[in-house]
Amino acid sequence: MRVLITGGAGFIGSHLAETLLERGDDVYIIDDLSTGSMDNIRQFKENPAYADHFFVTIESILNHDAMIELTGICDVVFHMAAAVGVRYILKHPLESIKTNIEGTEKILELCNKFKKKVLIASSSEVYGKHMHAPLVETDNLIYGPSTKFRWSYAASKLMDEFTGLAYYRTKGLNVIITRLFNTVGPRQTGAYGMVIPRFVKQALKNEPLTVYGDGSQTRTFTYVKDVVSGLISLMDSDNTAGEVFNIGGIEEISIVNLAEKIIRACNSSSKVELIPYEEAFEKDFEDMQRRVPGIEKIKDRVGFKPQTDLDTILSNVIESVKKRLSIT
Ligand SMILES: NC(=O)c1ccc[n+]([C@@H]2O[C@H](COP(=O)([O-])OP(=O)(O)OC[C@H]3O[C@@H](n4cnc5c(N)ncnc54)[C@H](O)[C@@H]3O)[C@@H](O)[C@H]2O)c1
Repeated sequence: MRVLITGGAGFIGSHLAETLLERGDDVYIIDDLSTGSMDNIRQFKENPAYADHFFVTIESILNHDAMIELTGICDVVFHMAAAVGVRYILKHPLESIKTNIEGTEKILELCNKFKKKVLIASSSEVYGKHMHAPLVETDNLIYGPSTKFRWSYAASKLMDEFTGLAYYRTKGLNVIITRLFNTVGPRQTGAYGMVIPRFVKQALKNEPLTVYGDGSQTRTFTYVKDVVSGLISLMDSDNTAGEVFNIGGIEEISIVNLAEKIIRACNSSSKVELIPYEEAFEKDFEDMQRRVPGIEKIKDRVGFKPQTDLDTILSNVIESVKKRLSIT
């Protein structure tokens, strides 16, 4: 099969490309390297076994000509490209909205023109400020005001969901929506505020682990390879179109406990340092206190079950960050 991955040089996109190449697909990626990196894909690009199976276009998804050609060539599209991460969104508010809304609309339009099945990566951020757990696909969504820009990421992803579902309803386009919860693993960068790679880097350097707020907020973390297998199962299934699926892990941990766990796993002398949200982000910043996915729907439909526990995830991330920092 010929597969197009937008954002294929990113963290999740590159793992998805790797798994699809391993199973024998031809993989085309498009990425503007805004948060992705050639380092993420160099190993497949330089692998002679993939020379006729892996094709890279460095371009924005907003480039119509490039997208027409790629969508025309491929059988299915995994749309992973997006402006990602609260810190990045706060720094690039307008560009982020354009990429996330206009970019997705263009891709859906082209997928409809060529009748190509498309999976859209949405986010657990769309749930907003819920306190209950687990969060299920039919829950109401609760946001802060539009003057608080952190919510623009959630709103843009929600708009992507509406647009995708509208194409399904009005044009019969085969669209699958996935709400990814915190996904972690090797190649993820801490540069845009992602918590685990940031903590691991701080711990390996014996620097303070900077926890935002009081650290009592909780998250679950899913290993990227588990997420990739969920994405592929949804795409391969013939009864997932026109629906929304959570993909995530179920092991809930507070951020302060996560920091302490990472300090122990790294044998580090670091200490936890609490940083008020307004110092870390902006005045009146709102965080989500809890974010635990309900995964019954994806489990029932395609048998998804996270396989990798947090200790294994951390040990894999620590090894990869050590390599990146050249620490033995
Ligand atoms: N990592 C997570 O925990 C998580 C959670 C929820 C949702 N998601 C979603 O999963 C997808 C992948 O996220 P990720 O964690 O791999 O982040 P990432 O930043 O590593 O990947 C996004 C990729 O998209 C590329 N990109 C951005 N704008 C582009 C544009 N205009 N044209 C072409 N390429 C562009 C970036 O360069 C990057 O390679 C995103 O849609 C994100 O919203 C991720």
